[in-house]
Amino acid sequence: MTNYVFPENFWWGSAASGPQTEGRVAGDGKGENIWDHWYDLEPEKFFNQVGPSKTSQVYTKYKEDVALMKATGHNTFRTSIQWSRLLPNGTGKVNEQAVTFYRTYFEELIENGIEPFVNLFHFDMPMPLQEKGGWLARETVDAYAEYAKTCFELFGDLVKKWFTHNEPIVPVEGGYLYQFHYPNHVNFKEAVQVGFHENLASAKAIQIYHETGQDGEIGIILNLTPSYPRDENNAEDVKAAAIADAFFNRSFLDPAVKGEFPQELIDIVKELDIMPVMEEGDLTIIQENKVDLLGINYYQPRRIKAKETPIDKDRAPLPDDYFDNYDMPNKKMNPYRGWEIYEKGIYDILTNTRENYGNIKCFISENGMGVEGEERYVNEQGMIEDDYRIEFVTDHLKYVHQAIQEGTNCLGYHMWTCMDNWSWTNAYKNRYGFIAVDLDQDGKRTIKKSGHWFKEVATNNGFDA
Ligand code: FCB
Repeated sequence: MTNYVFPENFWWGSAASGPQTEGRVAGDGKGENIWDHWYDLEPEKFFNQVGPSKTSQVYTKYKEDVALMKATGHNTFRTSIQWSRLLPNGTGKVNEQAVTFYRTYFEELIENGIEPFVNLFHFDMPMPLQEKGGWLARETVDAYAEYAKTCFELFGDLVKKWFTHNEPIVPVEGGYLYQFHYPNHVNFKEAVQVGFHENLASAKAIQIYHETGQDGEIGIILNLTPSYPRDENNAEDVKAAAIADAFFNRSFLDPAVKGEFPQELIDIVKELDIMPVMEEGDLTIIQENKVDLLGINYYQPRRIKAKETPIDKDRAPLPDDYFDNYDMPNKKMNPYRGWEIYEKGIYDILTNTRENYGNIKCFISENGMGVEGEERYVNEQGMIEDDYRIEFVTDHLKYVHQAIQEGTNCLGYHMWTCMDNWSWTNAYKNRYGFIAVDLDQDGKRTIKKSGHWFKEVATNNGFDA
């Protein structure tokens, strides 16, 4: 039996986001974002046709939710401000009801000993800005900088940990390459421009935050997916994996932490003649405004092999022209969601940040297990016995612990998520929470077995295994 004790003041908690939890109440003043718009347009694209208004209703239930977070051992919690709630038009006039809501929510957290970590952008582009091109448009970078400044001014006395984006590669992949986010384009050139603007916007927000002189920190949340080559002794596989890594991880990790873009990426973008439009001084802003801390979301790795399937010459290029996904035999799968489970990936990411990114201050900002049909595990007392989730978190935490023992500057672990919440087009299909939400009973909350377990872990600052 080993004693897994974590460093003092370790951050135990979970993450969520505004668009996935708040819901919409008549008269709350919220403007439209891309999710509201897309759902109205094509509700059939969403699992069981459940859209962004039918979320876990934190807008009205936040007091109960904070009490539940406390009951499950949280000392920290991340959510996001919804841009379209605070600034219904994307810029300009502030919605005062939103200010009251967020201030009250954050105060409630603080009063209960839970520090709020606040993210500015979690996939929720306000519709008036999307109509002008969203992240494709330079105007959005300026609008975002104004929005960030407004947030620091309105909430900076309460919030000391800010994040510029959650998983900024996802709007690039979903919106401009693989069609799982609005506007569902497939255009590599646009994808590159969107990624560049997101990076620039992040650096600008960091600059603005540091200029306020507030006594907090600002970072970014990245979903880092280690890219493992099929065969480490095969130079072509190794090269393909490095390219996938440059596209999906280093495209944001390098600018955020080192202030520069990876050379592999620049080479490809130049070769394809799809360099983004930039203004003079942009690269200096990125170079000079790096993150104070890094949030790492980890779910599953990428398995990569050298390109074997021929490229379809009739279609425009995509990142996939440089590698193939490798379906590794005998990999461990989450039987409820079809994602690979590879616990050591979390250790590899943490080791990489220590060895290659100056051992930057970091924390695990999301990790978790999506489960479809979880109701089947309800016991006679009405509690979901999610032993699989306890095992999943334990196995990952062991590797986090090992990385810390070896010197990685990892300050915390946040589960995705606390309350089951609305997961974009998957809606409520896969449940991730350690607290169940019953949509048929007005969002009734019940702590799962994992929630009680997490409370123990947080209280003891570790576990024995
Ligand atoms: C992550 C997102 C989060 C949630 C989980 C399941 O990629 O950050 O919003 O959807 O996946």
